[in-house]
Amino acid sequence: MSIRSQFLFNTELEKEIYHKTVEFGQEHVFQFWGQLNEEEKRHLLNQLKNVNFQLMKDLADKWILTTPKPEVFSEIKPIEVIPLKEDTHPEEKNAYQCGEEILRQNKVALLLVAGGQGTRLGFDGPKGTYPIGPITKKSLFQYHAEKIINIQNRYNCILPWYIMVSEGNEKTTLSFFKKHNYFGLNPENVYFAVQPMVPCLNEQGKFMLDSTYSIAMNPNGHGGTIPTVVEKNILKDTRNRGIEILSYFQVDNWAIKVADPRFIGYHILNQAEMSSKIIRKNSLREPVGVHCLCDGVYRVIEYSELDIYPQLLETDSEGNMKFFAGNPAMHIISLDFVEKVYHQLHHFPWHKAFKKIPYINEQGELIKPDKPNGYKFETFIFDALRFTNHPPVAVEIQRQGEYTPIKQFDGDNSVISARKSMTQFWGNWLKNAGYHIDESLIQTDNFYIEISPLFSLTEKEFLEKQKNYKWQITEMGIAIEKDGTIIKKA
Ligand code: UTP
Repeated sequence: MSIRSQFLFNTELEKEIYHKTVEFGQEHVFQFWGQLNEEEKRHLLNQLKNVNFQLMKDLADKWILTTPKPEVFSEIKPIEVIPLKEDTHPEEKNAYQCGEEILRQNKVALLLVAGGQGTRLGFDGPKGTYPIGPITKKSLFQYHAEKIINIQNRYNCILPWYIMVSEGNEKTTLSFFKKHNYFGLNPENVYFAVQPMVPCLNEQGKFMLDSTYSIAMNPNGHGGTIPTVVEKNILKDTRNRGIEILSYFQVDNWAIKVADPRFIGYHILNQAEMSSKIIRKNSLREPVGVHCLCDGVYRVIEYSELDIYPQLLETDSEGNMKFFAGNPAMHIISLDFVEKVYHQLHHFPWHKAFKKIPYINEQGELIKPDKPNGYKFETFIFDALRFTNHPPVAVEIQRQGEYTPIKQFDGDNSVISARKSMTQFWGNWLKNAGYHIDESLIQTDNFYIEISPLFSLTEKEFLEKQKNYKWQITEMGIAIEKDGTIIKKA
């Protein structure tokens, strides 16, 4: 029996979807149609209803069926970066105070991207639910929430928190927040929005089935922020609240300074449309994107493309990197700019990744490939930078206490290194408060320090508050909770 004759056209929409698949050579997705129950049929149709077939064909033509040529630039230049300065420097003070004022005026909202699949970490659950606290087992979400509460109290403001999730982790994320009573935040100010999904393509540019009634899809990357903000009512809600800028961050960085006044201030004072924080790369080939100007257009070039653009590996006569501006994925984005980019979304670039994608064979059996067998397509938020009119603002930050992403369990950018970085960061606060901590203890695998952001968000706040306490630091470590009580590692 042909797929066509098995297909019952109940509605015009169903007919339309079927014809679309035929027109774009994807009708094999209906090969098990005759065996599906009503719910399964609905699932497949719903998936297909939201697919942009023309886009997928264009991506297959450009990225799979032909070999794309890298873009050629006649000139690549470093960007200008606002360097690290003392807090007392007049420009720093000015930016900080400006940012504080904007926060007090309730003009800032937070946008957290948490829709990723977290494949490298291999954790069974959304990354934000990962118990990163080595002693408290606090999740990444809880650390973010505690910082938000501290800032709201400090500036007497509301920081609406928009969290981009994906179809795969929406339910679990939401129930995690409910189970933990939104970590003390008002649920009216926490909003979840599901980002768009795109089909994975096999090496012939065809959709892949991962069950008899569903095509393999992946979230459309953190660039999905732009359509999600506009199409999922975030724009409307923020406008109603009088918000002007979004402070964008990623879920996997416990150390993020959410709604950092310094960063907000530089963005506002420079009338920027989109701003970025910059980390100084620690080696020429460190695996982070590099901010640069390509023929005058602001770009972030991925580390996987360093050999295509070898200029990015150049050093000056003293051996310093010419292109040091690494991308820690922290941005301030003005709402007007989000709308502007949305209207040009068809120009937004896509990136492909060759991955292991589970699929079903002709017999409907699930196969988990042991080598890459298909493509995932994603958009990246930093590509929005090329749509800016004014030069985007780039502000240098220090890594410690700001940037410790968790991509895997061990090694660089890992759970293990993040936990150690907590101990070093907060250990310095305790040392500066006069506590003696044996350096050799800090290096051991069992000694950890955690300080709740509800107790103190900054060292200055900590040094003031700690005067009322006297803690015992055991050789297992110490976790200081919001009221100054301590939790000892079991
Ligand atoms: P990564 O690119 O590091 O991906 O995402 P990931 O999903 O966390 O991990 P891998 O690559 O599968 O191992 C950086 C940030 O962007 C978010 C992630 O949740 C993370 O906060 N993200 C990524 C999305 O929100 N949506 C996406 O489609 C992709």
